Amino acid sequence: MVKVAVIYYSSTGTNYQMAKWAEQAIIETGAEAKVVRVEETAPAAAIAQNPAWQKHHEETQDVPVAHSEDIIWADAIIFSMPTRFGNMPSQIKQFIDIQGGLWAQGKTANKVVSAMSSASNPHGGHEGTLLNFYTSMMHWGAIIVTPGYTDASAYTSGGNPYGTSVTQSQQDGSMVEDVEEAVKHQARRVVEVANKVHG
Ligand SMILES: Cc1cc2nc3c(=O)[nH]c(=O)nc-3n(C[C@H](O)[C@H](O)[C@H](O)COP(=O)(O)O)c2cc1C
Repeated sequence: MVKVAVIYYSSTGTNYQMAKWAEQAIIETGAEAKVVRVEETAPAAAIAQNPAWQKHHEETQDVPVAHSEDIIWADAIIFSMPTRFGNMPSQIKQFIDIQGGLWAQGKTANKVVSAMSSASNPHGGHEGTLLNFYTSMMHWGAIIVTPGYTDASAYTSGGNPYGTSVTQSQQDGSMVEDVEEAVKHQARRVVEVANKVHG
């Protein structure tokens, strides 16, 4: 069975929840799943000025931190990240940028990769974040797998064919669109392709 790492960054819990839904769907296929969080690099003072960020930060300390070994271990990787001004968060970028050693050894090549995202506005950078992230994955030699419109869930979740993405309510922080099934379909699709490539 293929091994799938779910590597996420989340300040206030949205992408953490998406990562957990992906994990559930991966396990249900019989594949191996491992959810790891990218290390928080923001200063404590920045985290403390947002109570939701502080709370989520404290609540997820027991989630293992992502390391290069997780990339080596994985046949496939699902990344989940919020937008930061239309781009990936610096925490994810830092994680990508410290994999130069693996890349030089050819150990990022042929990983089946897919990504998910979130933003506070419906047009606030969902697609841009994923496209910018996938650029780095092309440099890795990854095999990028997107959901496209391969499942009915695309039409009820906002319909982002680059990767499932959700709008986080600016009122209460909840998810505006119902994306659970879209996340799970994307995860199953990653397993399906990973089985073909690495199974
Ligand atoms: C520094 C910063 C920049 C952000 N930039 C955008 C943006 O350009 N567009 C947008 O819609 N939301 C933006 N957001 C909102 C986040 O993307 C949103 O809160 C996030 O998707 C929630 O994900 P999380 O709960 O997993 O942390 C920004 C948030 C921060 C802190």
